[in-house]
Amino acid sequence: MSQTNASSTVNLIPRPAKCRLTGHDLRLSLPVPVYAPSMPEISPVLQTFIEESAPPDGVLLTLIGQAAASDNKPGLTISIQSDMQAPEAYDLVIGPGSARLTASSPAGMLYGLHTFLQLCRIDGSEVLVIGAEIADQPRFAWRGMHLDVSRHFFPVSFIKIYIDLLARHKMNMFHWHLCDDQGWRIEIPAFPRLTEVGAWRIEDGNRYGGFYSRSDIADIVEFARKRCVTIVPEIEMPGHAMSALTAYPEYSCTGGPFTVPTTWGVFDDVYCAGNEKTFAFLEAILSDVASLFPGPMIHIGGDECPKERWRAHDLCQQRMQQEGLGDEDQLQSYFIRRIAKYLNTIGKRLVGWDEILDGGAPAGSTIMAWRSAEKGIEAARAGHDVVMCPMTHCYFDHYQADPAGEPKAIGGFSPLDKVYAFEPIPDGLPAELQDRIVGAQANVWTEYMPDSDHVEYMTFPRLCALAEVLWSPRSMRLWDNFAARLRSHIKRLDKIGVKYRRSDIS
Ligand code: ACM
Repeated sequence: MSQTNASSTVNLIPRPAKCRLTGHDLRLSLPVPVYAPSMPEISPVLQTFIEESAPPDGVLLTLIGQAAASDNKPGLTISIQSDMQAPEAYDLVIGPGSARLTASSPAGMLYGLHTFLQLCRIDGSEVLVIGAEIADQPRFAWRGMHLDVSRHFFPVSFIKIYIDLLARHKMNMFHWHLCDDQGWRIEIPAFPRLTEVGAWRIEDGNRYGGFYSRSDIADIVEFARKRCVTIVPEIEMPGHAMSALTAYPEYSCTGGPFTVPTTWGVFDDVYCAGNEKTFAFLEAILSDVASLFPGPMIHIGGDECPKERWRAHDLCQQRMQQEGLGDEDQLQSYFIRRIAKYLNTIGKRLVGWDEILDGGAPAGSTIMAWRSAEKGIEAARAGHDVVMCPMTHCYFDHYQADPAGEPKAIGGFSPLDKVYAFEPIPDGLPAELQDRIVGAQANVWTEYMPDSDHVEYMTFPRLCALAEVLWSPRSMRLWDNFAARLRSHIKRLDKIGVKYRRSDIS
């Protein structure tokens, strides 16, 4: 059977790089025995997967101990081998007699386990696993989803569901937009007013808001670690900072007072770039955030920062003179470079929205190209790693269908087939710069998503399409084939209760 037929028949999403049906389906008794070495790096991931792999969405597995692949025991035998073709790669061979999964990392093992589950059909007290030989690895290293928890706040339980859904789709980066004008959502003990004041707004006479405590964050970080998802926390600066400035107006140019806004948009009051104390404040916050999140990167925003206040403020103008900065764009560039330097001293790398290119982005920073694909090209040419998330295709707050039949959204139009057609390597990027595109993500801004059901509706099944864009070889991305597999895949989503947009599935 051809490779195309194989993976479409078995309805894997995302589609594996190589998949051949062997015709030797495998029958195993339940719970399925799993044989795996006990290793500190894989055991937490494996244990978690096994603990949670139960009907209705999964297949009951039981960890038995170690076995050699050559033992051919009736069950799933996992081996870890360091010389795989790529860090997140896995090989999975189903049948005859047994299933064998080989990976070089916890992530590779996890992705192989998810593929294994997608091949299983429960049949009474047994499970039927489709006979296949799979050699799989991702196309891109950054396979991400963003979530704005400022415009609307979502509980820890939902953040976990979101991260789990990423992992089930072999996505590995969770960009957590933890603060914005309308709410500060992370507890920072040195600055209690951030959450006492900045986490709350008065909407129609009611107090709306919430935040994540340090133990919430630790809990989520550990949850993500066991699913091989890296969290990139975002602390917005110098703009989109009204919630922080309401709590601590002394770090603005005017001194306030302010209120946490209840309308959406871009606000003129931003962090003061002339006051040394602003940097001390932000560095203390970043130091704390760095201690909570083990990942290598911190996102510092950098988008949509009006320069009105800087133009009118003596301290900011003095700073420009002292530093020889020709205009306010260069002052923003100074701001971001200074923060990047600080992050480097604490062992973290900076990620920012593509506006940080204006006036020059710090060397070694990663750029998120959101305004256009061309911004990604500009960033790559300037020597940066690039995460593509152009709003033409990757804004999941945009409408998915005719607005007349849809709940209110922010505007824009990105239906499922358009997301599936998204190509992260932009046209016009010279071949020698293509490696600069580390991957892509979708952004989920929640101005018009008041609850988690609505987030799921806007995110699924578009996330399934994006997962395949980022994982599967470009040549295997065929819309009709995907649409057919998606009809089966949504039954998996049904079992775990995802409130996806049903009209996408005909
Ligand atoms: C953005 O959408 N302002 C990054």
